[in-house]
Amino acid sequence: MIQTIILAAGKGTRMKSQLPKVLHKLAGKPLLQHVIDTATQLETESISVVIGHGAELVRTAITSAVNFVEQKEQLGTGHAVAQALPHISSDATVLVLYGDVPLTPAATLQKLLGEVSDAAMAVLTVNLTDPTGYGRIIRNSAGTIVKIVEQKDASSEQLAVREVNTGIIAAKGALLHQLLPKLGNQNAQGEYYLTDVIEMAAGQNIRVVPVDAAIAEDVEGVNSRQQLAALERAFQRRCAEALMAGGVTLADPSRLDVRGNVTTGTDCFFDINLVLEGDVVIGNNVTIEPNCVLRNCVIGDNSTIKAYTHIEEGNLAQNVEVGPYARIRPGTAMGAGSKLGNFVETKKSIIGPGSKVNHLSYIGDSEIGSKVNVGAGTITCNYDGVNKFKTELGDGVFIGSNSSLVAPVKIGAGATVGAGSVITTDVPAETLAVARGKQRNVEGWQKPTKKGDK
Ligand code: UD1
Ligand code: CA
Repeated sequence: MIQTIILAAGKGTRMKSQLPKVLHKLAGKPLLQHVIDTATQLETESISVVIGHGAELVRTAITSAVNFVEQKEQLGTGHAVAQALPHISSDATVLVLYGDVPLTPAATLQKLLGEVSDAAMAVLTVNLTDPTGYGRIIRNSAGTIVKIVEQKDASSEQLAVREVNTGIIAAKGALLHQLLPKLGNQNAQGEYYLTDVIEMAAGQNIRVVPVDAAIAEDVEGVNSRQQLAALERAFQRRCAEALMAGGVTLADPSRLDVRGNVTTGTDCFFDINLVLEGDVVIGNNVTIEPNCVLRNCVIGDNSTIKAYTHIEEGNLAQNVEVGPYARIRPGTAMGAGSKLGNFVETKKSIIGPGSKVNHLSYIGDSEIGSKVNVGAGTITCNYDGVNKFKTELGDGVFIGSNSSLVAPVKIGAGATVGAGSVITTDVPAETLAVARGKQRNVEGWQKPTKKGDK
């Protein structure tokens, strides 16, 4: 049984922020949430999160099922882990993670956990060209790990060691219950160091097994906004690589941002400056032109999203075309082969198969049948200032340009609305409705003149 403890009580002074560090977002998600999600992948039996600075903010921002444990004073990593002990059973394999280290792959942690037994604990290590600031892994002449020494407590000989403690460890619950109460704080920082557990364990013939994380950014923490930006880029590069590996061509892998879960088919082409947020499902052979934002949506096969289009909670079938400059808002469903053109906004509307709304329209609370043509500048007047009403267009309807459809209103199949009409009552099928002032041509009309002109 695995139990996880996540340390997240630190202040994060260098972030220069009112927001607790672990709530700063990477790829649109709080750092701490990344760590919780990784732990969840490990099928951990419980997650205890040690909070301190901004505890209330953390409690409200994180909705996952975790035990929050408050560490009133930040007396060190060992003290922090000790606060979670009431939630830890002796027979558990305990994993200690940091809430500000977001990119550790679950597989690496799995490997770490695999080394733990009654006779062994495990430390995730990494070799750094510049180990400054980190705890050094100290081995004896036989190469066995005997302790970890913090930067501030290290001798010059120890400072030369490049093998460092990532901070992530795994050990039996029983061992932590036994050793944590014995920690002292007689060191350069006056803190209770979790790392002192290593020397104590080694002293009682518990093997300390190093697992090399191999990739530094997998175990890097966020202490500043610069580091946050660097990890964001690392994460985005991985997302871009995964998309390309899955058969998507990216015009520029560095100009794509994924902030959620994206699935794609093959032979897609994404041009530059694409932001994908939430759950986005994209089919095969989809082209997305530059500068688009797609949030929680489904895009069917062979569709084209033209430049500067925003889609939020839309469901688009195959062979659909939208944009440039289209805005698709929640509750929009587009049928196969339908089209929304430039400066068209839709909300809570069904656009039937093969239907077109090509220019400058607002379509809200509407149900549009198949093969409908909605002319330029058509507006569904769905709101009377208090309530919203529905507009229904039957199959094959033709709406002339610059018409206002005042809801609630139904236009029957095959009907035509003359350009410039304000439609306030239902139009029967197969009829023509014209609702506008009749044209009058005045013969011999004198243009007005300015005073003084002849
Ligand atoms: C710690 C390790 C060091 C390791 C480094 C990796 C110790 C003594 N040192 O050092 O060996 O190389 O991490 O980054 O463990 N925290 C609490 N409560 C506390 C203190 C810390 O929750 O009282 C949390 C912090 O929010 C942070 C994590 O624990 O997420 C690490 O704390 P930090 O002070 O950054 O440890 P380091 O001194 O960097
Ligand atoms: Ca640190």
